[in-house]
Amino acid sequence: MKQTVQTLQAMKERGEKIAMLTCYDYTTAKLMDEAGMDMLLVGDSLGNVILGYSDTISVTMEDMIHHTAAVSRGVQNAMVVADMPFLSYQTSVYDAVVNAGRLMKEGRAGAVKLEGGKLVCEQIRAIVNASIPVVAHLGMTPQSVNTLGGFKVQGKTADAARQLLEDAKAVEEAGAFALVMECVPAKLAALVTKTLHIPTIGIGAGAGCDGQVLVYQDMLGMFSDYRPKFVRKFAEVGKVMQEAFASYRSEIQEGNFPTEEHSFAISNEVMAQLEQ
Ligand code: KIV
Ligand code: NA
Repeated sequence: MKQTVQTLQAMKERGEKIAMLTCYDYTTAKLMDEAGMDMLLVGDSLGNVILGYSDTISVTMEDMIHHTAAVSRGVQNAMVVADMPFLSYQTSVYDAVVNAGRLMKEGRAGAVKLEGGKLVCEQIRAIVNASIPVVAHLGMTPQSVNTLGGFKVQGKTADAARQLLEDAKAVEEAGAFALVMECVPAKLAALVTKTLHIPTIGIGAGAGCDGQVLVYQDMLGMFSDYRPKFVRKFAEVGKVMQEAFASYRSEIQEGNFPTEEHSFAISNEVMAQLEQ
């Protein structure tokens, strides 16, 4: 079934959990879609796991459109959400609408995601008014790593928790149809989830959210630069890949690959003509 703003809202109302993973390419998108994933996030985490940056600051609109279009081509049912990269929406309401529009027109995203609360509500309202669904993102917002002072849990003090709750209400009021909460204490995320009408999707925000999201290379055990506390490894795909790469190399060296079944034939007659 094709996921829409309405079907995802209905899942919250039925108490059915929403499953989301990040995705950056066509092949993986097809596998996730066939597995029944509800939402695919073309996260600006592609700066980390695809491009090898240490943060998401350098990710461009062109990077995001390129990968969003690839993911969209592989999907039939999941909702594809594209991250708005750093400085594609903070600069003005106009920039926000133009860039959200590019992610939808050129990337074929079904929705966009941007980081921040009250400070970006004008942008959220304008993008939604342009008929582009918006996912908000609160808590640890990686594009603000340089003002937050590192990657750490947010909303732990009474002031910070109250601020997060206020921001959550504000983004809902501005028209966001879902909210991602990253690295937020579980009880606070559960309170936000109960308070809001729209679905919440947690990453390091406990089981009380309406859905969960992880970076897929983390949950497949493919990425070892760092491993946050909130990640569970659902497979050891990194190990499987390394073993396959090593075996490929040794089979080549030992002359076991390729064999006749992987080779193309030519008639003896033609070969004989060459040898004349
Ligand atoms: O870019 C990303 O992968 C994200 C998720 C961690 C929510 O924004
Ligand atoms: Na992101």
